[in-house]
Amino acid sequence: MHVHVADHPLVSHKLTVLRDASTDSPTFRRLADELVTLLAYEATRDVRVETVAVMTPVAEAQGVRLADPRPLVVPILRAGLGMLEGMQRLLPTAEVGFLGMVRNEETLEADTYAERLPDDLSGRQCYVLDPMLATGGSLAAAIHFLVDRGADHITAVCLLAAPEGVARIEREMQEIGVPVNLVVAGLDERLDENGYIVPGLGDAGDRLYGVAD
Ligand code: PRP
Ligand code: URA
Repeated sequence: MHVHVADHPLVSHKLTVLRDASTDSPTFRRLADELVTLLAYEATRDVRVETVAVMTPVAEAQGVRLADPRPLVVPILRAGLGMLEGMQRLLPTAEVGFLGMVRNEETLEADTYAERLPDDLSGRQCYVLDPMLATGGSLAAAIHFLVDRGADHITAVCLLAAPEGVARIEREMQEIGVPVNLVVAGLDERLDENGYIVPGLGDAGDRLYGVAD
C-alpha cells in the first residue's frame, strides 16, 4: 500500500485548528472541507485522462480531459459526508456512491447500515472518503464492498490515521491482492484503549454534526 502523508504548511495549519478541542462545528466543517480539497489534489494525481484537442481564441491546443468511466467518490457516512464537497470541488463530474457505517464502540467492529453503490465497478477509479482511519475496520469493510464489485483502483482519503489502522489495511489488502493508495493529512501516534486516535481530534462525526445517540 502506498501511504502519502501530505507535507504542506497549509495542511498542517488547518489540521492543527481541527485538532483544537475549542474549535466549533462551523469552523470544523469549513476546515475539513478545505483540507480535503488540498488532499484531493494529491489523491487524484493518477486520475485517468485522455487527450483532447481544444480551440483557443488563437489556435488549436492539445489537452486532456477525464477519461470514461468517470471516477467514483464514496464517502463513508456519517463523517465522510463532511469531505464530499471538498472532493467534488476538484472532481465535479465524478459520480458518488454511499456507504453508511457505524463503529460499535464496545467491539470496535464496523456495522454497515446503508449501501448505495453501482453494481459494476470494474475499470472505475474509486476514492473513499473517511476522516478517521483508527482500527481500520470501517475502511477495510468499505474497500471489501468495492472490491466485491470489481474495483481494482482504490484510493482512500483520510484526515488522520493511526499506525494500527494503516497496518490492518495493508495486511488485508495484501491478502486479497488489491493495491490501495492512502492519502492523509496526518499520521498519529497510536490508538487509546477505546480505539480513539491519539492525539487525534476526537469523534469526527460528533465534531462535524453533533452528538448522535
Ligand atoms: C468514525 C469515523 C470512521 C470510523 C473509524 O465513524 O468516521 O468511519 O469511526 O474507526 P475505525 O477505523 O476504528 O473503524 P463512526 O463509527 O463514529 O460513525 P459516524 O461517522 O457516524 O460518526
Ligand atoms: N472515530 C473517530 O471519529 N475518532 C477516532 O479517533 C476514532 C474513531
